[in-house]
Amino acid sequence: MKKLSALIAIVVTCMAFVTITNKFNEGENPEFIYPSKQRTGNAAIGYTYLTTGDYLKSGIPYSLFFMGAGKDTNNFLNRTGNNKNLAHDFTAVKAPNGELIVAPNCLQCHAQVFDGKLIVGLGNSLTDYTINRQGTALFAEKFLKTLSGENAKKYEAAKNFITAIKAIAPSLVTTTKGVNLADALAALLVSHRDPQTLEWSDKNLLDLPTEIIPTDVPAWWLLKKKNAMFYNGFGRGDFGRFLMASNLLTVTDTAEAKEVDSHFNDVLAFINSIQPPKFPKAINVAMASEGKSIFMATCKKCHGTYGEDGSYPNLLIPESIIKTDSALYTSNYSNPQFVNWFNQSWFTSGDHPAKLVPYRGYIAPPLDGIWVTAPYLHNGSVPNLEAVLNSKKRPKYWQRNFTQPSYNYDIPGYNYETKDVPGNNEVYNTTQKGFSNEGHYFGDKLSDAQRRSVIEYLKTL
Ligand code: HEC
Ligand code: HEC
Repeated sequence: MKKLSALIAIVVTCMAFVTITNKFNEGENPEFIYPSKQRTGNAAIGYTYLTTGDYLKSGIPYSLFFMGAGKDTNNFLNRTGNNKNLAHDFTAVKAPNGELIVAPNCLQCHAQVFDGKLIVGLGNSLTDYTINRQGTALFAEKFLKTLSGENAKKYEAAKNFITAIKAIAPSLVTTTKGVNLADALAALLVSHRDPQTLEWSDKNLLDLPTEIIPTDVPAWWLLKKKNAMFYNGFGRGDFGRFLMASNLLTVTDTAEAKEVDSHFNDVLAFINSIQPPKFPKAINVAMASEGKSIFMATCKKCHGTYGEDGSYPNLLIPESIIKTDSALYTSNYSNPQFVNWFNQSWFTSGDHPAKLVPYRGYIAPPLDGIWVTAPYLHNGSVPNLEAVLNSKKRPKYWQRNFTQPSYNYDIPGYNYETKDVPGNNEVYNTTQKGFSNEGHYFGDKLSDAQRRSVIEYLKTL
């Protein structure tokens, strides 16, 4: 019986795929992403591990951390004990030698304060990676090395963390606030590690380019629909394996990696349980309904349908059709070192392996909660939905306020000022490599009124 229903599911999926792809006639066809088997887990346990767990086992000694950062009084996550006075994006954990340390957690990039409330799972578009943190790491190292007696254990507990930050920080600097460098970070982390044993080497083992490719962090609530991870859909196989890759920052050996990995089925269950926040203002129902019809005719084939019996097509859209900035996917071909490292590494071993499958193009993402996830496109180059749907409205140089972010609920996205010249590190300069706002011209052929209606509909997702 089970087999029969599985067979029916496959047949139905294939039929859906055939009808979907038939509608594309501009050159190369989109590619359907087949699902891969995932581990199951417990969302509540996953949440606790995510916000209090020791997936990084090295960091800054607790007392030293407070000297630098001070106490955080928000306690957005309502954590207790040693985490009570830490910002939501740091966790206090015991290092293997028993020292209490503070390590960054996933919410550095995967949570953001929006209108005074922390939204866990919202990609953080307010981070500042324009500063080289190497100096801070060197300072901490120098200070900790002067400690002796019992306190010498503090240096031991911080060593893996400091070594990694020292080595990678100079290459992790971007020109612009708000964009994320996780892709470069991943490549840098593996470049210092043996693929099989995961042992650290001070020497950079891969010859990596120094270019910085910016990304905008995707919302976690989208993953439950997707058959592949990441913008270019290259994350295949067991998702938990990718989720735990942050452990590469400080991991000592594969025994530790295996232990950390054994928690990430639960973290995945938590991520899959997150719902997008609802649009908080009034929606014009008649306009939204008009917008839905336009969406069904123009956008559905790539972005799917929504509501109770919604369906998501899981398509990769080739470069010839999408035409958005190519730097992110191109780098996997011009510099295949990262993909090669991963595909012969510990991550591909065992009974729930993962692998990377590069593609020249991007996945058409689900649009749930799209109103809150500005800026848009994979590199965050477009400030609001109106400009996503009308390429003529996309600013070349634009600046938003990072200290007091201001959101526009009308054409959802960030309020910004247009600039005539590139300017300081708060100005998004779309003429830089990887930062282009080209492509995704599917809304251009609509009238202004039609675009308004589609935006009204997008607010309901
Ligand atoms: C330094 C910032 C940063 C940190 C820390 C970080 N991530 Fe991410 N994460 C990103 C970025 C950027 C992407 C998108 C990269 C891409 O698609 O090319 C991403 C992608 C993902 C995705 C894929 C979403 C999708 O729809 O494809 C998941 C899930 C995820 N991260 C989970 C985690 C977990 C769990 C942790 C902690 C163990 C973590 N991340 C730590 C920045 C970060
Ligand atoms: C041929 C497939 C295709 C069609 C048709 C299409 N899109 Fe997209 N859309 C994509 C892809 C692929 C991306 C990701 C591009 C990138 O990030 O570089 C995307 C991105 C988006 C984004 C930004 C998502 C984000 O999180 O930044 C929005 C909003 C969007 N599309 C809305 C629409 C609407 C509305 C329509 C119909 C008017 C539409 N799309 C038609 C493929 C398509």
